Amino acid sequence: MAPGMTRTAVIGTGSELPTKVITNADLEQMVETSDEWIRKRTGIAERRITDESTASSDIGTAAAQRAIDDAGISASEIDCIICSTVSPDMGFPSTACFIANNLHLRHVPAFDLAAACAGYSYAIHVADGLIRSGVYRTVLVVAAETLTKFVNWSDRATCVLFGDASGAAVLRGTNEDRGVLHSEIGAETEYSDPELLGLVGGGSRLPASESTVRNRDHTIRMRGQEVFRLAVGMMPDVTQQVLDRAGIGVDAIDLFIPHQANVRIMEAFSERLGIPMERTFINIDRYGNTSSATAAVALDEALRTRRISRGGTVLIVTFGAGWTWGVNIIRV
Ligand code: ACO
Repeated sequence: MAPGMTRTAVIGTGSELPTKVITNADLEQMVETSDEWIRKRTGIAERRITDESTASSDIGTAAAQRAIDDAGISASEIDCIICSTVSPDMGFPSTACFIANNLHLRHVPAFDLAAACAGYSYAIHVADGLIRSGVYRTVLVVAAETLTKFVNWSDRATCVLFGDASGAAVLRGTNEDRGVLHSEIGAETEYSDPELLGLVGGGSRLPASESTVRNRDHTIRMRGQEVFRLAVGMMPDVTQQVLDRAGIGVDAIDLFIPHQANVRIMEAFSERLGIPMERTFINIDRYGNTSSATAAVALDEALRTRRISRGGTVLIVTFGAGWTWGVNIIRV
């Protein structure tokens, strides 16, 4: 494939949601909260949760296999696997290597990409660059997250928010006028304070010890109100800036897929951009915040349920700890 001659098309998508459902009523039994509070403040009614024996690579493999089947290709046609995750199976080997092995892909490059909740946008961006520069023809992107394994189940401010999921896409070079029309990623690192949003324990800064376990340093920390304000300001701003740089008008986007962190953030986003909520995809009510998997699952669902038809244009906008963000404009 000659460099500069192609676009990167999404030729298949898939997702995997664990079967176990945790409703708001279930959470009422665990912490001092209420179904009404959670729905009103977050838009979440229920979320999915993996069992003890299931890791990110397991749900990642299932989503990847569905995406490969949807693309109608053989797994052996995949040249590279990128797994977006901040809830990897373990420090190393990478979750991508486990997924590759599960798919019987024994000779392809496989690596993890950590950009928190913006990871799917980052992975699409990297895959697009690899494909358009002619390095690879077909790249499998998997966003696999099991954040509920890293939740402090006695902290009502965070435990109500998260769920587990995986979404995948097969990307391939094409000379047709479709695929990734424009993509940008960024990081506003002055907001990288891990107490704002982060998981501080278990890395080289704070290796696992009895005291890290006692202090619950292996669970997610968040200053919710600050995260909320940052997201409400940044999501519409970067979206408008990227649309302007791409020379694409808001009206040319058929469906917006914002990171599913809080329905109020998505409502504010739609209002600021002046788009009706019907053009904003929402599934947080059923799955909660599944980090980088939210956009991957949403794209798959939007295609399967025909919220977006072939030939339509989707804008994915994500943000996450770091402070990372990404925008991908894709004609599907
Ligand atoms: N149930 C009942 N009450 C609660 C709960 C709960 N689950 N959680 C907090 N409260 C209480 C607080 O203690 C506080 O009580 P007080 O007034 O007596 O002190 C009150 O509710 C209000 O708390 P706030 O934190 O001000 O509530 P807010 O309206 O900000 O909602 C929320 C909290 C939902 C966390 C919101 O701030 C939010 O969504 N923030 C952004 C979350 C986000 O995007 N996270 C990103 C995650 S990772 C990622 O996607 C990159």
